[in-house]
Amino acid sequence: MNARIEIVQTDITTLKVDAIVNAANESLLGGGGVDGAIHRAAGPQLLAECRTLKGCKTGHAKITKGYQLPAQYVIHTVGPIWRGGGANEPILLQACYQRSLELAVDNAIQTIAFPAISCGVYGYPIDQACQIAFETTLTFLQENQSITKVIFACFGDLIYNTYLKIAEQSNK
Ligand code: APR
Repeated sequence: MNARIEIVQTDITTLKVDAIVNAANESLLGGGGVDGAIHRAAGPQLLAECRTLKGCKTGHAKITKGYQLPAQYVIHTVGPIWRGGGANEPILLQACYQRSLELAVDNAIQTIAFPAISCGVYGYPIDQACQIAFETTLTFLQENQSITKVIFACFGDLIYNTYLKIAEQSNK
């Protein structure tokens, strides 16, 4: 596996990285899951800044400060809701990782952590979502040296073991 990719079981809000990625919704006004955890940990100024962004389309990403989080920035991206696979979900999910990484490079961010976007409330099949996440990230890192570390912050065994399996297969 690429030495610049790490797979860890952790609460993403605790990570002291340049940026953590939020699995947001198009309003960018908070929610449950990791979105709720990030807003709780960052404090009310995060919502205040999000309000100025006027939302975010699915597959796109926007950046804010991290406020009370250990991370300096939050990159908010909106994953696709799983509707069976025929509504461009793979392309949109791939775009979430690609655009988040591009935004990181544009902001001189070197270390970044992702949750498993769309794998909770949005119901994306975990093995397919993690495969897209891993492949998109690996390809991006091969073409961009400025990012020194990408952490997949897994909440629970299933996501963690899925990423480990994908990483092992990519080593073959
Ligand atoms: N740290 C890391 N991962 C977390 C954390 C956390 N603190 N909390 C939850 N997760 C994991 C979930 O277990 C899941 O694997 O993040 C992944 C994404 O799940 P969701 O947070 O439900 O996000 P998503 O499926 O993309 O749905 C987005 O949910 O919370 C709302 O406002 C959000 O409407 C949006 C929708």
